Amino acid sequence: MDHDKFLEYVQAENKVEPKDVMPEDYRKLLVRQISQHAHSEIVGMLPEANWISRAPSLRRKMALLAKIQDEAGHGLYLYSASETLNNGENGADRDSTYQAMLEGKAKYSSIFNYAALSWADIGAIGWLVDGAAIMNQVMLMGNSYGPYSRAMVKICKEESFHQRQGYEILMTLCRGTKEQKDMAQDALNRFWWPALMMFGPNDADSPNSKKSMDYRVKRESNDDLRQRFIDVTVSQAEFLGLKMPDENLVWNEERQHYDFGDLPWDEFMEVLKGNGPCNKKRLKTKIDAQKEHSWVKEAAIAFAEKQEELVNA
Ligand code: 3HC
Repeated sequence: MDHDKFLEYVQAENKVEPKDVMPEDYRKLLVRQISQHAHSEIVGMLPEANWISRAPSLRRKMALLAKIQDEAGHGLYLYSASETLNNGENGADRDSTYQAMLEGKAKYSSIFNYAALSWADIGAIGWLVDGAAIMNQVMLMGNSYGPYSRAMVKICKEESFHQRQGYEILMTLCRGTKEQKDMAQDALNRFWWPALMMFGPNDADSPNSKKSMDYRVKRESNDDLRQRFIDVTVSQAEFLGLKMPDENLVWNEERQHYDFGDLPWDEFMEVLKGNGPCNKKRLKTKIDAQKEHSWVKEAAIAFAEKQEELVNA
């Protein structure tokens, strides 16, 4: 494998496909990122699931059910993409990557370790969390690995519905009673900084960024995407009549961007270490679900094997 030739190939905007020869560190970087992306989709269903039975109307319940179903599909899509990188001993098969998450050896997005305490949180999750995810995933549509970039096209289309239904929930609350508007403000206050952390550490503290950029996986930096997210989101909050929970947020005419306060990086590191508000609860839910529903997988495998026997009989 001529490493310089491979770099030249991806830097000329060519796509790498599963059967292509690729450097091991490229494969490893992709397995890490794509499997963790998939874990984020799957664990991301949990905070919202709590509100399906509490949705204030049938219409809201249907939209929330559709969104959660989409997230499951995104997870399956992304596990399939990461499995295309399985070379038999790198643990990129679905069982191994999923087990790594259950054992706390692989990450999922920190944002899902925060509780959804009110119905307004469901609006804030759609508006801010899916809004930040869109910002990141639109960038990933241009990544060099074929299956991952193609997965992003479908996922981004569905994410825009997620973001809009969340924003509409908050718009309804902000046009409602004082209590409802206060609920929306409280949700923004609690989800704003964790949503900014979704973009990852500052570029200077990002150990994976350089290699990811060289390999044309990450196409824009953590800080650039975070800045763009802030720049587009502030006016959306103003339209809702909500106050941004950052007293250092101010438009910088010279930079043509918002200046903003320091993120709570200590909190970020604690959440990544597993000490966030819901880390233990999230993993316990997934571990219990795997145990309780293992019969479904066993039955599906038995059925597939039977089908195989019939076809080959
Ligand atoms: N939560 C958890 N871990 C995070 C994180 C976050 N918000 N931000 C960074 N990290 C981790 C990284 O995974 C890395 O750890 P690792 O080496 O053990 O994997 C470490 O912190 C250092 O960060 P880097 O910036 O060096 O890592 P990356 O170059 O991988 O950049 C990333 C981080 C921007 C999250 C990148 O991995 C990425 O773009 N991932 C794909 C998109 C994704 O996973 N989005 C998560 C949300 S998906 C979602 O919200 C679903 C939607 O439907 C709601």
